[in-house]
Amino acid sequence: MNTGKVDVLLGLQWGDEGKGKVVDVLTPKYDVIARFQGGPNAGHTLEFENQKYVLRSIPSGIFQGGKLNIIGNGVVLAPDLFMKEAQELEKSGHELKSRIHISKKAHLIMPTHRILDQAYEAARGKGKVGTTGKGIGPTYTDKTSRNGLRVGDILDRFDEKYQAHKERHLKMLKALNYSDFDITETEKEWMEGVEYLKQFKLVDSEHEINRLLRQQKTILCEGAQGTMLDVDFGSYPFVTSSNTICAGACIGLGLGPRMIGNVYGIMKAYCTRVGSGPFPTELFDETGKQLRDLGHEYGAVTGRERRCGWVDLIQLRYSVMVNGVTHLILMKSDVLDAMKTIKACVGYKLPDGTTTKELPFDLEGVEPIYQELEGWQTDMTKMTSEDEFPAAFKKYLQFIEEFLETPIKIVSIGPDRAQTVIRK
Ligand code: GDP
Ligand code: IMO
Ligand code: MG
Repeated sequence: MNTGKVDVLLGLQWGDEGKGKVVDVLTPKYDVIARFQGGPNAGHTLEFENQKYVLRSIPSGIFQGGKLNIIGNGVVLAPDLFMKEAQELEKSGHELKSRIHISKKAHLIMPTHRILDQAYEAARGKGKVGTTGKGIGPTYTDKTSRNGLRVGDILDRFDEKYQAHKERHLKMLKALNYSDFDITETEKEWMEGVEYLKQFKLVDSEHEINRLLRQQKTILCEGAQGTMLDVDFGSYPFVTSSNTICAGACIGLGLGPRMIGNVYGIMKAYCTRVGSGPFPTELFDETGKQLRDLGHEYGAVTGRERRCGWVDLIQLRYSVMVNGVTHLILMKSDVLDAMKTIKACVGYKLPDGTTTKELPFDLEGVEPIYQELEGWQTDMTKMTSEDEFPAAFKKYLQFIEEFLETPIKIVSIGPDRAQTVIRK
């Protein structure tokens, strides 16, 4: 049968690669944009016409041409945060209610999930994950342990269900000896958020998406977080609690794997990470600070400083593999514009002294082996075509393409929608 097509766009590093910006750029090419996992732990930044927006739960296809945006079953949703985010956008003149459909199977993040998130982090002490504190882990845990509360539940005997879940959480918090919290105010806003959610179309999104595909519609799936934060393939246990990889789009939207066409893998020209966990190419010197300052590397959600380092091609080759990436999208190369030389990790030295070119089971104690490349030392931020790219930058692109055996389709040279070069 002839159907429409589904492409997936996702992060290849530890998140914050620039997914929001590129989804916005690509939206005019699609009929539908769909989020398939994660929740308000995401912060996707978009800039255009001197406006800046940070989206958390709302897909990044909301600003271009009245497209349908779907929040899939794989997402976890906090009604109070969703309400605040949506009302801000409505205030600035963006109509959302007819354009956002929410899966009835998406799980709800309760106020007590956020407290549990804090309690688990406190209990881990030094080994804390450094979560965003949004209740992501506890909500996905309830989902897999078959204790979750879903969006569809708000339509029937909700108070009763909510109270039962809350009681269970309070017992868990007591067992953790965690009592220093008061959710009275949050709970009130949360309940307002639940009422607000009812103004949106709550759908069986798997049916809707497959129906749209039969009608030849095109869909872009927007990933959150990044491959190294995937609960199976990331730097476990310092990961998020969902499958951020391409297969997550099948699970989080109800798509058969054969429906997936292009897989756009987004990477920064360097690398960042927020929160704890190993990061082989992390820089603690002036260059690291320079990357943070020039790249404005501060968390979009928590404001935390992002850890910065050189690009890691061993890690990226692994990400290309587990996602089946068909096209690369290179972000933030402008941050390297002034550098004389640039480093890329092309191998690892393991703690036992041996070397490898494959991502090992554990990244702890791994040392990067670098190749030094010539910088282009040219301001590229106003370029509009790849023909203008300096020779050293072209060489750099070719080096990455060859190492990762994947073509670079888009080069982003600044935060604005207009600072995007689509390659031939
Ligand atoms: P996401 O979570 O993957 O959507 O990425 P974030 O929005 O968390 O972080 C990316 C940051 O880089 C945002 O502040 C963007 O505005 C900014 N950005 C995106 N692309 C570029 C680029 O090509 N150059 C520069 N300098 N900044 C960019
Ligand atoms: P976007 O979509 C970067 C990180 C947190 C923490 C770990 C687990 O904007 O790229 P969680 O709250 O999910 O339980 O935290 O994952 N993390 C992100 N880092 N970008 C994100 O999203 C992230 N979402 C979660 O910092 O280390
Ligand atoms: Mg982000």
